[in-house]
Amino acid sequence: MKSISIFNNKGGVGKSTLTYHLAYALSEMGIKTLMIDLDPQSNLSLFALDDEQIEDIWDKEDDFIDDYEKAKRSLSVTDFKAIHNSPRSIHYILKPSEDGQSEEEELPPCVDINPYLSLIPGRLTLHLFENKLSKQWSEAFLGEPQALRVVTAIRRVSQKYAETHGFQIVLIDTSPSLGILNKVIISNSDGFLIPCAPDMFSGYGIKNIGNALGVWKRDFDIMMSLLPESKKENLPKEFVKLLGYTIYNAKKREDAANTLKIAKAHYNWAHKLPEKNN
Ligand SMILES: Nc1ncnc2c1ncn2[C@@H]1O[C@H](COP(=O)(O)OP(=O)(O)O)[C@@H](O)[C@H]1O
Ligand SMILES: [Mg+2]
Repeated sequence: MKSISIFNNKGGVGKSTLTYHLAYALSEMGIKTLMIDLDPQSNLSLFALDDEQIEDIWDKEDDFIDDYEKAKRSLSVTDFKAIHNSPRSIHYILKPSEDGQSEEEELPPCVDINPYLSLIPGRLTLHLFENKLSKQWSEAFLGEPQALRVVTAIRRVSQKYAETHGFQIVLIDTSPSLGILNKVIISNSDGFLIPCAPDMFSGYGIKNIGNALGVWKRDFDIMMSLLPESKKENLPKEFVKLLGYTIYNAKKREDAANTLKIAKAHYNWAHKLPEKNN
């Protein structure tokens, strides 16, 4: 299994759209693909599922997001199985790690889109998992087992789904943040793709990503040098590779003249050309 995250520091550049269409194209090629929606905004899940379907998934697991163990204890074994053995959000799946427990032996089923394409939906509450990551991050360097369990949870879950369902590729959609959730997602992926818009902000965004990746790689290298081999099982062997970028202007056609005007103004400004050349 290879895991690929789709990331850009900018919103609205087609991350979720590319995740969905790339995953769909892979599935049509007969490559078993899993999409994991790790953007708390959950647009990928909203693209892929009916509103009722996603609402039903979220509603039934609310108590587990508040306190997993307490919610589980309040249910009979049969009622817990009814919830656990239906598709659940990625936050529900990560919740035992967040709460300091080990994952359930069996993971919930994914939402199957077609025989070769499945989805684990996102959830707005993922910031709680992110808070836990930021608290545990420095402890993970010391090999503290609970901290390592949280930091490696996303990769471990991806690997477990790949083993049990035969997924060859796991595509992860992300939010535009450079916070610790994306740091952990991207540093624990095998590769990442950057969808871009052809504008100045995207240029700055890429520079920002480059700077952040330098820091992330330094942390990754330190962690790998400090941890004993036995604790590296759920970490990638090498730091994530940039697989490439795509450029697409999602602006409507009627905006094209204006976009061109702005682009020319930027060009003139950058090359110190007079305004009349516009
Ligand atoms: N290749 C494309 N062709 C047409 N529209 C696109 C394309 N990529 C993105 N869009 C549109 O651009 C908007 C933002 O895309 P989205 O994937 O939600 O961005 P992000 O996930 O980066 O925030 C959406 O309305 C989407 O339909
Ligand atoms: Mg998105």
